[in-house]
Amino acid sequence: MLAAMERARRSSAWIELRLDYLAGPREIDRIIHALSKKTFRRNHLIVTLRRREIGGGFPGSVEAQIRRLLQAAGLQQWVDLEIESIDDRGIGIVEELRERGARIIVSYHNFQKTPANLPAIVRRLKAARPDILKIATHCNSMDDAARLLRLQDRLHEEGIHSLILGMGTSGTATRILGPSRGVAFTYAAQQADKASAPGQLTVDELARQYRIHRINRSTRVYGVVGYPLGHSLSPVIYNSAFAASEMNAVHLRLETGKLGDFRRWTGALRIRGLSVTLPYKTAIMKYLDHLDSSAKFADAVNTVRFNGRQAIGYNTDVIGIEKPLQQAGLRLNGAKVLLLGAGGAAQAAAAFLVSQSAEVYVFNRTVSKARRLARQFRLRVIQFRELKDRRFALIVNATSVGMWPNIKASPIDLSGIRTDAVFDLVYKPPETKLLGDARRRGMKTISGIEMFLAQAFAQFRILTGRSLPASAVRETLKRVQPDKRS
Ligand code: ATR
Repeated sequence: MLAAMERARRSSAWIELRLDYLAGPREIDRIIHALSKKTFRRNHLIVTLRRREIGGGFPGSVEAQIRRLLQAAGLQQWVDLEIESIDDRGIGIVEELRERGARIIVSYHNFQKTPANLPAIVRRLKAARPDILKIATHCNSMDDAARLLRLQDRLHEEGIHSLILGMGTSGTATRILGPSRGVAFTYAAQQADKASAPGQLTVDELARQYRIHRINRSTRVYGVVGYPLGHSLSPVIYNSAFAASEMNAVHLRLETGKLGDFRRWTGALRIRGLSVTLPYKTAIMKYLDHLDSSAKFADAVNTVRFNGRQAIGYNTDVIGIEKPLQQAGLRLNGAKVLLLGAGGAAQAAAAFLVSQSAEVYVFNRTVSKARRLARQFRLRVIQFRELKDRRFALIVNATSVGMWPNIKASPIDLSGIRTDAVFDLVYKPPETKLLGDARRRGMKTISGIEMFLAQAFAQFRILTGRSLPASAVRETLKRVQPDKRS
């Protein structure tokens, strides 16, 4: 712990020591003793000894906790004390810690939810007269995160030193935007596997990817909305593009399990624009004020721009399919195209291919879905046994088969099928099993990366009015692609 603290001193002004994660009372005493020999001129230390009942690691009683914290108070630094211990021991304990030289963070935690009645919790914490008032609750939706940010805004306006933050993936926005809304500091882990709360990012991610020191009240906030967002590349791409173009903007993961409160939380977070991904590309349409012709054409939205109070939906997935095919110089008019898959991506591909008068055959694991797509766009459904000895100009893979981590899988065996070109919409990895097979057979191949870039280029322009710095983004994509061996 002491070595980790020394490392953290270089990058962070505030350092929290979670004494409750030490092996036992003897270690705790040793650390407090060792700290008393050190001086901290540039750093603030926070000593935390959270009890198990409150989600910490300290198995002892309130009395044992307070005894150790009184010792730690002699360090003349900060002590984090949970409100439950104050409820148990009385408010006098805060004064006692203060008299020994500590400043006090009084904290409330809830690892299940963000309760409806936050003002009542604030009143309870204020009564303990903390130096910093801390609330950390689990966010089950983006609306929970927005409520926490609004509370932080209000406390800041009242001049109360506070730290209101959301745990879990939906809470990430509060960790990144908090400092620009006046939180005293924000929490981050030194290493990814050492996070002390769910949804916590690393110091490196906050500093390099999100450039947190530059986020202020004029920073334009963008994000990607979906559920789950585990593998979304949007934040990495956008944030590196913002850095390369020196724009005062940030792009956040906005993971949410429900969409009904979408307009409320986007307003509270002052969101300028969104990338929309699964499963909301269709569901989001009814919450928008206006649909651009691209969204109407694809009957799906992957981009939302806020123009004042108006929310406008666009679709750039179709451009993402169009551009790489154009660049490859394929003639689609009257060409036979085999479309694999019948989900959202297949729908965008079908819309474009049909508009180019291609003769589209759709093949899907679930035949009923293939039939539905075929009816929508007047395509032909083709069965597995009919594929042999067919000739196509192009095969488009719009299934997720072959996507990392299942990189050995391929949606179709190319032996016995003749085609000039294969376009795989999967971009992770850039060369899927299907594309590798096609390349070895001398077919022309188009990687999903090309679709991703074309789609992102169009989206970036709609959302920011600027050009996506393509070379910086290609570099970033190379850096974040999974290792071929994994
Ligand atoms: P997206 O919007 O990315 O297209 P989706 O709507 O979930 O995502 O569609 C996924 C497509 O991949 C579907 O066509 C799906 O086939 P089913 O309609 O039979 O579900 C296809 N797919 C996913 N996993 C598959 C697998 N293991 N084998 C074959 N097809 C698969």
